[in-house]
Amino acid sequence: MKIIRKVQEMIDFSETNHQQDKLIGFVPTMGFLHQGHLSLMKLIRDQVDVLIISIYVNPKQFGPQEDFKKYPRDEQRDINLVKPLVDVVFIPESDDIYPPRYDTFVQVEELSKPLCGKSRPGHFGGVTTVVARLFGIVKPDIAVFGQKDYQQSLIIKRMVEDLNLGVKIQVGPIIREPDGLALSSRNIYLDEQQRKRAQEINQGLALGEKLMKQGETDIDQIISAMTELISGHDLNIEYLEILDSSNLQEVSSMTEQVIIAAAVLVDNIRLIDNRLVDVDRKLEE
Ligand code: PAJ
Repeated sequence: MKIIRKVQEMIDFSETNHQQDKLIGFVPTMGFLHQGHLSLMKLIRDQVDVLIISIYVNPKQFGPQEDFKKYPRDEQRDINLVKPLVDVVFIPESDDIYPPRYDTFVQVEELSKPLCGKSRPGHFGGVTTVVARLFGIVKPDIAVFGQKDYQQSLIIKRMVEDLNLGVKIQVGPIIREPDGLALSSRNIYLDEQQRKRAQEINQGLALGEKLMKQGETDIDQIISAMTELISGHDLNIEYLEILDSSNLQEVSSMTEQVIIAAAVLVDNIRLIDNRLVDVDRKLEE
């Protein structure tokens, strides 16, 4: 496994591999890796000749009051974790990703507005800007993103299509703890008691799915049942919405595939989770 820290070296490496007709797979991350990240790497390991991951905590996607400075980092641990799985770990420096003359911002407009776009203004512009730049450097054939950040995955797909970037985007399922809490680098912030309460986020979403599959069609009813469960455990809901999974618009009927998406504050720790629900398919009793 190779560690590349310089943008130019990464460009040269990818170019050489493309010249040899090698298929390049790419998993961008912000590090502090967990099994969710690793699952994305495993998903395409066998589909590609060269698997590249990046570790870069992108300042442009954090708001001024957010946790950029204290975002968990452990480079050596990350490197050891991925060593058996990947060919290259790209760990660029900020002044190489955004050199002094850097002046481009990439924004997907409508899909960036709802959900996290509302509560984290500027966040998705930061994500698309860095992912576009990383795609330009790594030039992957396939890149993988997690359903954990569902809105992000839709936005990246839209960007790739709109700009004809020629990267195939795959989306991997959400990896969870045994009690259902979605894995996240930010779970490290939770103390024991907060960690216990956090599992209710998934419980709330599961309740929503169950109600829908039992035939409940009144979205307000479903939302209020989920809200009651989640808020009942001293969790603060930032948003909890049921939207059309294809475009994040409000749903007019319950016959389409919907996404139940939530951002919840466990004290001051913000966690997100979601569930895709095919309403037509009923839960087996
Ligand atoms: P990060 O939060 O490190 O996540 C990297 C990738 O791992 C994302 O595609 C995310 O959806 C996926 N992921 C996170 N938790 C997961 C879980 N429990 N199960 C499956 N996949 C999971 O998302 C980012 O970084 C950044 O925004 C990035 C795309 C790297 C741009 O800076």
